[in-house]
Amino acid sequence: MSETILDIKNVNTFYGPIQALRDVSLHIRTGEIISLIGANGAGKSTLLMTIFGAPKAKSGQILYKGQDLTLLQAHQIAGKGIAQVPEGRRIFAKMTVEENIMIGALPIGDKYIDEDRATMFELFPRLKERRNQRAGTLSGGEQQMLAIARALMGRPDMILLDEPSLGLAPLIVRQIFSVLKELGKNGKTIFLVEQNANHALKLADRAYVMVNGEIRMTGTGAELLANPEIRDAYLGSH
Ligand SMILES: Nc1ncnc2c1ncn2[C@@H]1O[C@H](COP(=O)(O)OP(=O)(O)OP(=O)(O)O)[C@@H](O)[C@H]1O
Ligand SMILES: [Mg+2]
Repeated sequence: MSETILDIKNVNTFYGPIQALRDVSLHIRTGEIISLIGANGAGKSTLLMTIFGAPKAKSGQILYKGQDLTLLQAHQIAGKGIAQVPEGRRIFAKMTVEENIMIGALPIGDKYIDEDRATMFELFPRLKERRNQRAGTLSGGEQQMLAIARALMGRPDMILLDEPSLGLAPLIVRQIFSVLKELGKNGKTIFLVEQNANHALKLADRAYVMVNGEIRMTGTGAELLANPEIRDAYLGSH
């Protein structure tokens, strides 16, 4: 069994007086695909943001390769090899697709840039076709692909994605999940936050269910998919 790359222990996070995360513990091993599912407002994005130090955890530990990220400032965490694809994508709208991709390599320099750009265009042929198009004019699904490609250009050890399926048509969602699956097969460590429980659980090696800021359930993706409570609450089927 490979070693734990991210070990979140008893994390509590507040927005002012409001507690958004309650004693959250979860772990991710190198090479695993882990999904976190939960309803609107459950605290999923807050957990991802807490990993990056904004908001800061009030208590608990977030051990990344053994180092406690809660003791670092947000800008120090940024250089640790964890890539984030945030909710809402945040691509550079006025730059071209290709320029956005190249920017993703900034943290590691240009040593692998040609090789990695070619890999991104293989993973996402749509981006290759549109390499000279302004990113702001891409469709939502294409922008999501671009955000993922840009994150991968930094050769992160781990990639965190916040609702990559949000607002996208089923066909595009399937394409994006099939890329994530391929990345997982190639050994990339992936932490995926999703309301789309069906896709997220099918993809995941293991998954966690968050309710009101707490982890309520965990198991393999297949176990949770088969669980009647999960089916009722998140899959809209019985
Ligand atoms: N900046 C903020 N200030 C105050 N409260 C916040 C802030 N951001 C989030 N919250 C609250 O924290 C709780 C968790 O929100 P969060 O965005 O983490 O949920 P989520 O699971 O990502 O939901 P969604 O699926 O809708 O994206 C919610 O009650 C939300 O209103
Ligand atoms: Mg969210």
